[in-house]
Amino acid sequence: EPIPVITVDGPGGAGKGTIAQALAHRLGWHFLDSGALYRLVALAAEWHGIDLDNESALVPLAGHLDVRFVAPDDGEDEARIYLEGEEVTGAIRTESAGAGASRVAALPAVREALLERQRDFRQAPGLVADGRDMGTTVFPDAPLKLFLTASAEERARRRYNQLSDKGLDVTLAGLAEEIRERDRRDSERSASPLRPAGDAEVVDTTDMGIPAVLARVDDLCQQYL
Ligand code: C5P
Repeated sequence: EPIPVITVDGPGGAGKGTIAQALAHRLGWHFLDSGALYRLVALAAEWHGIDLDNESALVPLAGHLDVRFVAPDDGEDEARIYLEGEEVTGAIRTESAGAGASRVAALPAVREALLERQRDFRQAPGLVADGRDMGTTVFPDAPLKLFLTASAEERARRRYNQLSDKGLDVTLAGLAEEIRERDRRDSERSASPLRPAGDAEVVDTTDMGIPAVLARVDDLCQQYL
C-alpha cells in the first residue's frame, strides 16, 4: 500500500492553504506547503545576492536549501519556518517574496531541484500537499486530487482581507493586478504550468465559504479514499 496523498492545487487566493491545512489537521496527516519552498528559494537568493533569473546559481541553492518546518502548536495557525537558522515565517509571506517565488518557479531546473525534497514529505500515515503542480507532476499517483479555483476579483478580496488583518499596507486594485500577473506567469510557463490534472476534482470556491468547501472536500474524501 503506497502512502496516500491528497493534492490541493490551484491559483493563489483560492483558499488552498486554509483548506489543505484544515484537512491535514483533521486527518492527522503531514502537510506540504510547496509554495513556501519556492518563496524560500527567492528569499535565499536575495540573501546571497543571486539574481532571480540566474538558473545555474539558483539550482544548487534550491538543492541545498537549509530549511526547517516546525509544525504549529495548538493555538498557532501556521507552521514556523526557518531558513539557515533564521525564522522567516513572516518574511516569506510578503507580496515581493511571492513575486520572487513565481519567477524562480518558472525555471525548470529549479523545479527539478525541488522535486525529491517535496516527495520526501510523503510519510505515513499520509500527506496533504498544497501547490500548483502537486497533482500533475509531483504526486501524479495521488488517489485524490483537488483543484480549487475562484474568480480573480474574489481572490484579490480574500488576499486583501488577510494582508490588511496583518496590518500590511496594500490596496485591492494593486493586489488584483498582481494576482492576474501571477496567474498569467503560472499558467503560461512551459515547466509545470498551473492546470488541473486530468483526474482532478475542480471546486470553484468563488461563492463558497470555508465550511462549505470543507464539506465538499469531505464528500470527495469519502468517495476516493
Ligand atoms: O502558493 P504560494 O503563493 O506560496 O506560491 C508562490 C509561487 O510559487 C506561486 O505563484 C507559483 O509561482 C510558485 N509555485 C509553483 N509550484 C508550486 C507552488 C508554488 O510554481 N507547487
